[in-house]
Amino acid sequence: MAITEIIPGLEGVPIAESAISRVDGQRSLLEYRGLSIETLAEHSTFEETCYMLLYGKLPTRTELSDFAADGTRHRRLKYRIVDLLKCLPEHGHPMEALQAAVAAIGMFYPDRYNPNAAQKRLSCLRLIEKVPVVVASFHRLRNGDDNVVPRRDLNIAGNFLYMLTGNEPDPQATRILDICMILHAEHTMNASTFAGRVVASTLAHPYCVVSSALGALSGPLHGGANEQVLQMLERIGSPENARAALARMVETKEKIMGFGHRVYKTVDPRAKILKKYAEDLCRRSGNKLYDIAAKVEEVASEVLSDRGICPNVDFYSGLVYAELGIPRDCFTSVFAMARVVGWLAHWLEQIENNRIFRPTQRYVGKVGDAYVPIADRR
Ligand SMILES: CC(C)(COP(=O)(O)OP(=O)(O)OC[C@H]1O[C@@H](n2cnc3c(N)ncnc32)[C@H](O)[C@@H]1OP(=O)(O)O)[C@@H](O)C(=O)NCCC(=O)NCCS
Repeated sequence: MAITEIIPGLEGVPIAESAISRVDGQRSLLEYRGLSIETLAEHSTFEETCYMLLYGKLPTRTELSDFAADGTRHRRLKYRIVDLLKCLPEHGHPMEALQAAVAAIGMFYPDRYNPNAAQKRLSCLRLIEKVPVVVASFHRLRNGDDNVVPRRDLNIAGNFLYMLTGNEPDPQATRILDICMILHAEHTMNASTFAGRVVASTLAHPYCVVSSALGALSGPLHGGANEQVLQMLERIGSPENARAALARMVETKEKIMGFGHRVYKTVDPRAKILKKYAEDLCRRSGNKLYDIAAKVEEVASEVLSDRGICPNVDFYSGLVYAELGIPRDCFTSVFAMARVVGWLAHWLEQIENNRIFRPTQRYVGKVGDAYVPIADRR
């Protein structure tokens, strides 16, 4: 079948059938396996959400405790991966370190190409558990701090906060990070998931799938936006400056970071949940950036919402992460710590019914050009 029309950014083009998650951009709706994101944020845990995304159903008590306990066995990094992290430049971006480490981690597992159910489960557990450990370890090592040995008695969010700071994690902070991870775990056919599915379709192994998806997530139009939101809020400086700053940005067609979405034409449901946590945390600590953010949202809504440009997940996530003590340049890696499970669910789904992605192009270059010898070229 020849389709000749080019759809920029593949907007509205379905590239796979998927039973993992669903977005309704007009109704501010996101569901994982049929369960609303609001319900999951209130009642689930990141570990339970991981199980459900990978296996398509909520686990029984035993299935969940086995899954979570098995996972904790895979937290430790090979000492050579720690050595690799030590060798990376401390000014390198944590997403670059994470992408390099995930690609390298795969090399330690000869079973990585084996598609039987047990090996698939192992690969998923290793990636879900090791990604947060890599993020925390790289951060400590680049600051000249000792690496902290992961603990098995904490959940993924708690162990991450523990390893990042070396201190006993606060239960409330752990739960908020757990909720953030639920909210970021999966989001239909976004750019990084598509990148991962393309790589999966070549039957590359899951470490390769995840490292490719990490590269896609790192860009400022995707997972990198949350870092930039805080920079923008700081640049605006006060709620009183918001209106003039936004008018300037709209006039010069500068994008407002944390706003707009290919699918949501109303507020992203994840942004509504994160806004509440951002407000609570900032009020308690006296962080004025929340007031600037709220004013930016108010003014931007007046100017842009009739064009369907509304706050997305990244508008408030950075504020929450900053309040949890997460360094700003680690925000996208924290997003990745959660999204790794979505990528893996899509990897499993893709290889279940695979055909390699091989789209086409419309050639617009020269045809049949003459080769001019180098001496005759001007
Ligand atoms: C998310 C995003 C990449 C979606 O891109 P997209 O679907 O290709 O939409 P476009 O970038 O083509 O935008 C369509 C129109 O809305 C405008 N627009 C989109 N997002 C905007 C924003 N954040 N601020 C101002 N204008 C925006 C574009 O300028 C464009 O206007 P035009 O038609 O007059 O040229 C885009 O909204 C964006 O860059 N947002 C900021 C980055 C961000 O927050 N990313 C995180 C996403 S979760």
